[in-house]
Amino acid sequence: MTGRPPVVLIGPMGAGKTRVGKRVARRIGAGFLDTDKVIVAEHGPIAAIFDELGEPRFRELEREAVARGLDDDKVLSLGGGAVIDAATRSALADHRVVFLTVSASAVERRLGDGKRPLVRGGISDWERIFAERLALYREVADVEIDTSHRPYDAIADEVTEWLGTR
Ligand code: S3P
Repeated sequence: MTGRPPVVLIGPMGAGKTRVGKRVARRIGAGFLDTDKVIVAEHGPIAAIFDELGEPRFRELEREAVARGLDDDKVLSLGGGAVIDAATRSALADHRVVFLTVSASAVERRLGDGKRPLVRGGISDWERIFAERLALYREVADVEIDTSHRPYDAIADEVTEWLGTR
C-alpha cells in the first residue's frame, strides 16, 4: 500500500476523532481508517491487550498500525496516545494534521463504554493524561478544533473546508 492520508486526526480520548473522520471521509470521497480498529481486528480488544500484554506492547502495535496508516490513502484517525511516540511525531510533520480537542466537562459523558483502560478511574484520569499530552498534540497539529459544543457534522464541515485551503 502506498499513498498518503488526505488528513490525520489526533486528540484525546473522546474528542470524536472516529466520528469526525468518517464524516470527513464521506465528504471528500475517501476511505477511512482508525488505528484502534486495525489493532482490534488484528489483536483483539484494546482493554485485553493492556491487561494481558501491557501498555508497552500496545504502543508497539500502535506504532506499526500508525506507520501503515500513514502509507495509505484513507482519512486516518489515531488513538489518543499515538503522539507519545517520537517516531510517529516526526512522521506526522509531513502530513496535514488536525487536533480535535474537547473540554473535560463535555467529554465526561462520552467515556462510559469501558473500552478505554486508561480512564477506568474516570474523568480525573482523562484530565491528567490530557494535560501530559497537550504540548505533544500542539507540536504536530496544523490546526486545532474544539468539539465540545458542536455537532460532529459541523466539525466535519470545518475540517473539509480547511482541507480545501491547503
Ligand atoms: C488511548 C486512546 C484510545 C486507545 C487506547 C489508549 C490513549 O483511543 O488507543 O485506549 O492512550 O489515549 P481513542 O483516543 O480513540 O479513545
